[in-house]
Amino acid sequence: MRYLILSDLHANLHALDAVLAEVRGRRFQKILVLGDLVGYGAYPNEVVERVMALKRLEVVIRGNHDRVAAGTGEENAFNLPAMAAILWTRDQLSPGTRKALTGLTVGPRAVEDFAVCHGSPFDEDLYILSEREAWVSFQSAQTDLTFFGHSHIPCIFSLQRRSLEGWLVGRDYLHYRLKPGVRYLVNPGSVGQPRDGNPKASYCIYDSKHRTVSFFRVPYPVHPAQEAILKAGLPTHLAQRLATGQ
Ligand SMILES: [Fe+2]
Repeated sequence: MRYLILSDLHANLHALDAVLAEVRGRRFQKILVLGDLVGYGAYPNEVVERVMALKRLEVVIRGNHDRVAAGTGEENAFNLPAMAAILWTRDQLSPGTRKALTGLTVGPRAVEDFAVCHGSPFDEDLYILSEREAWVSFQSAQTDLTFFGHSHIPCIFSLQRRSLEGWLVGRDYLHYRLKPGVRYLVNPGSVGQPRDGNPKASYCIYDSKHRTVSFFRVPYPVHPAQEAILKAGLPTHLAQRLATGQ
């Protein structure tokens, strides 16, 4: 089975549409979404509608921004621009979008013999940025392979016996074959707000039969996404960071 894996779309309709247009030319049977459909960007209703209408959608995991925007949980450690965006998003949500966000799956969720989650297998708010956080996440993971989001940084952590390694994808295309006997935590990067210094939208495709992960980057029209953020009165920083992918 080939899975298209999207994460951290963050109400960026321009980025999502560019990714959906690009993947029309790629082979996959199911779509997995790792959360944070809303927050930061100016198109929360449109992005949720697009995602929920995807034909091959298998599961949408709840992200921390989805939880707080829908009013179904606490806003743990939100910084000021994120909080401003969440308050704005709450006001914008249509009843249908709010209902969809409220019904999202709380991770982790098993798919075949792997799992998907938002932050970490044991805490949707935890950022796996360092080997230390990866280590505790491996301890709680029920599967040898977990796809996660939340950090907005495409990367791979591997654990072989007690040897843990982490590395950034760091380029626009990477095809990686998972090694037998090694455990993995894999982040596809963010569609709507990349933070690895590359402004292009990020996603991956996992082939469970051949055990390969392919990472892709897609350019999209950043300027209109920025203009919509500014027009909505959202913090300027949220528009500026899209240009640099920071
Ligand atoms: Fe996020």
